[in-house]
Amino acid sequence: MVIGGNLQPGELVAFYSLIWYIIWPIVNLGFTINMFSQAKASGERLLEILEAEETIRDGETGIQTEKIAGHVVFDNVTFHYGNEEGAALKQIQFDAPPGKTIGLIGATGSGKTSITHLISRFYEPTEGEILIDGRPIQAYGLKSLRSHIGCVLQESFLFSSTIQANIAYGRPDATMEEIVDAAKRAQAHDFIMELPDGYDTVLGERGMGLSGGQKQRIAIARAICINPSILILDDATSAVDMETELQIQHALREVMKGRTTFIIAHRISSLKHADEILVLDQGRIVERGTHEELLENQGLYQRIYQIQYRDHQSVAQNQRC
Ligand SMILES: Nc1ncnc2c1ncn2[C@@H]1O[C@H](COP(=O)(O)OP(=O)(O)OP(=O)(O)O)[C@@H](O)[C@H]1O
Ligand SMILES: [Mg+2]
Repeated sequence: MVIGGNLQPGELVAFYSLIWYIIWPIVNLGFTINMFSQAKASGERLLEILEAEETIRDGETGIQTEKIAGHVVFDNVTFHYGNEEGAALKQIQFDAPPGKTIGLIGATGSGKTSITHLISRFYEPTEGEILIDGRPIQAYGLKSLRSHIGCVLQESFLFSSTIQANIAYGRPDATMEEIVDAAKRAQAHDFIMELPDGYDTVLGERGMGLSGGQKQRIAIARAICINPSILILDDATSAVDMETELQIQHALREVMKGRTTFIIAHRISSLKHADEILVLDQGRIVERGTHEELLENQGLYQRIYQIQYRDHQSVAQNQRC
């Protein structure tokens, strides 16, 4: 039409510009509708979490204590997660006096972690009662109770922040001396000092840049930093090599002094020094006693020992060959 003289070139340019003004919003509308439905679905799930009702609440007289002795008693505790699988713990009964070490051993799914969940009051027992220093666990204020419990878990969670902030996570007002002291006691100070920025080294997401054993020792330092009366070590040394395990165990022995400690482990070497060892099977305590007593029992513990010891023997034989 322009060549034929029916349309001015300026009109052609104006026409195309106007067409783009119309087409872009229409194309964008498609994207926007898509994003809107995605956001609506995510928003609903987010609100579900934000509005979820807390089932564990502070009692009316939440006791706030500065210090607890750490006497933990399970009185005939049965616990159900609320799914169809049946009770995760059945009639658990034990008495952990202040400062003593209790070892928990048993096959996977036997209920070891569930016991520690109940001590931190993440769940309420279905039947029976848990007493701390002679008072029911529900009598304590949740925050106060948890400030006396230190946990080191199998998969330690570190934040993408400085090492110093990670150690002081449970007690943000800790001074630098307290942080360094906690790190020293967890045998972490030396490797931290070797890092380019020392305590100010910023870690990656989930502690990237550190090995499993180093992360574990920072997690131990974090647990020490809150100076807890009750210490829970859930498989704290399962993901590390033998030498690191030895170092961590050395660190832990220092930390466990004067605290009621629950050690969960699959390796007998990690818990044989415990004051009492509870052997769990399918949510029940099937055996209890010290390492020596349990070895004489000819039960599950002795079988676990034999399996681990047999491995040990064959390794020794191979080395000799
Ligand atoms: N959050 C949960 N919701 C529902 N059931 C659970 C939950 N956590 C654990 N269970 C169930 O409770 C039982 C005991 O699990 P628990 O985690 O205490 O075992 P465990 O002895 O710690 O095992 P592992 O040695 O593998 O860590 C298992 O049958 C498990 O399926
Ligand atoms: Mg577990």
